[in-house]
Amino acid sequence: MCGIIGYLGYREAYPILINGLKKLEYRGYDSSGIAIFCKNGYRLYKSKGKVNELKKKIFSPHKIKGTTGIGHTRWATHGIPDDVNAHPHVSNSNELILIHNGIIENYHAIKIILLKNGFTFKSKTDTEVLVNLIEYIQKKNKLSLEEAVRISLTEIVGAYSIAVVEKSHPERIVIAKLGSPLALGINEREFFIASDPIPFLDYTKNVLYLKDGEMAILSKNKELDLRKILDNHKLSPIIKELQINLKEIEKGEYKYFMLKEIYEQPRTILDTLRGRLSITDGFICINGIEFNKDIFVNAKCITIVACGTSWHASLIGEYLLEELTRIPVEVEYASEFRYRNPILEKEDIVIVISQSGETADTLAALNLAKKKGAFVFGICNVVGSSIARNVDAGAYTHAGPEIGVASTKAFTAQITVLVLLALKIGKERLSITESRYNSLCQELRSIPEKVNKTLKIDEDSIKEISKIYSNVNNFLYLGRGINFPVALEGALKLKEISYIHAEGYPAAEMKHGPIALIDENMPVVIIATKKGCYEKIIGNIQEIKARKGKIIAIVNEGDIQASMLADHVIKVPNISEELSPLVTVIPLQLLAYQIAFIRGENIDQPRNLAKSVTVE
Ligand code: F6R
Repeated sequence: MCGIIGYLGYREAYPILINGLKKLEYRGYDSSGIAIFCKNGYRLYKSKGKVNELKKKIFSPHKIKGTTGIGHTRWATHGIPDDVNAHPHVSNSNELILIHNGIIENYHAIKIILLKNGFTFKSKTDTEVLVNLIEYIQKKNKLSLEEAVRISLTEIVGAYSIAVVEKSHPERIVIAKLGSPLALGINEREFFIASDPIPFLDYTKNVLYLKDGEMAILSKNKELDLRKILDNHKLSPIIKELQINLKEIEKGEYKYFMLKEIYEQPRTILDTLRGRLSITDGFICINGIEFNKDIFVNAKCITIVACGTSWHASLIGEYLLEELTRIPVEVEYASEFRYRNPILEKEDIVIVISQSGETADTLAALNLAKKKGAFVFGICNVVGSSIARNVDAGAYTHAGPEIGVASTKAFTAQITVLVLLALKIGKERLSITESRYNSLCQELRSIPEKVNKTLKIDEDSIKEISKIYSNVNNFLYLGRGINFPVALEGALKLKEISYIHAEGYPAAEMKHGPIALIDENMPVVIIATKKGCYEKIIGNIQEIKARKGKIIAIVNEGDIQASMLADHVIKVPNISEELSPLVTVIPLQLLAYQIAFIRGENIDQPRNLAKSVTVE
């Protein structure tokens, strides 16, 4: 987590940094800070809280002159969110100023050595240790900044993307990356540094993504100097031109990005299908599979690894892949998988799913799977992200930038890719009949329209239900089969943006414990669509009703039985069970949004969270 930004060139750095930090706030918003450099030194501003708090502290921004600067927005790891722990951090001699995204795992051992050598520390952060380590090594060995940075980084265990400036040489910034993302925007006579390219897209679309173990020396009026940290070997930069529509990163008519992203889903699902599902003959083409067909057809086992919402999509993927391809599938939390010596054979496939493509645990799981010889397929949203660059093959979800911290459109895009994947492999393996394949392809094409319809028919009823339940303390979400992960996702959405405790359960598991919680104060959201165990779900609804629980049922149009029993009904279009999560999740996203809205929460930036979890 944390967002870093930097500028070196001929423009005033302040507005670039402060506006850029706003765009990086999704990565953390516990505190922020900037340092702007000029010939006579630098000006440093730091503040607890969001970038707006920092702005309030800067009384005369037009007086902050300087064409070099660095900035940071923090998601706290070491040390509480306050002004002192905010970045940038300054070395003891006041000569080096540094920003950092990541974690220095061996900071404690280094700190002890530095303390023995007379260094003192103001903050509780690992970053202040790093900037002083660089200073210590630089002074001791009389090194240039870049050499001191390089040698210091070889002593570091952990993850980082950093930018360092020397007060007496503001015409130069040294940057380096391992584990945490770092994009460099390049124009004639200027460089932009950021955790992702969005902050500098107004200025340039030419981007270099630093790879792990790389550093760069950026100097005014000089060519980029890219090097390997380990041996200082000079590298040739590969600069790409980004294809991105700036409208996608604006809220437009919507109050929050989350709502915009929920309403974008008919289009984003269509974009995920575009060019992959032929309208005329149901032919599915995903290059990452096309080029590796034998691997998929002969796979003995598939393991899907992800975190959070992407893990919920993975559970849906398990259902789809097992059902349609008959290949056994396991789903793992990336954080567990990476530390438990998983059994992987050469013919095994590991699928990693990540919206950001930067989640530290998922990235580590990917590397472990590759090390063990598995074929790794990635499903990512962010083009050029670390996960996308490191997999053997993959498919982008094409949902466009997702800015709201709570994931919505990325989830439905991930499911869409998983449906395509399962259908494609199923067809190649002959594990699905021609008629089932054709009818699912046909239905898949109608999904954007059905999602559109769901968004329209549900809006008012969801607002009403939200008003009634916005003050409760607990919610239960129930589903069965492929809609059990949707129940988990609904509960997660509510928890993270409204701070109401919510739990997702397989409906039948309720009687093994959670049923004890049910009374007249407990709202239970239950996915009761027609296909898949409908009669059993009706039984579960009866059980809740008998204990006076309040039932909010997600039902198909034309439903009678569940609707008669429920206190509230939300209707979704009829659809095959395999594709149903693509519509059943929509009302759950809207319900979470409306409840959080009524409670007056900051929906796009819920407390304690960050969009990109780049620390484990
Ligand atoms: C929840 C949410 C998180 C992410 C999780 C994984 O709304 O957004 O649970 O799904 O942090 O992130 P990615 O998909 O970027 O790897």
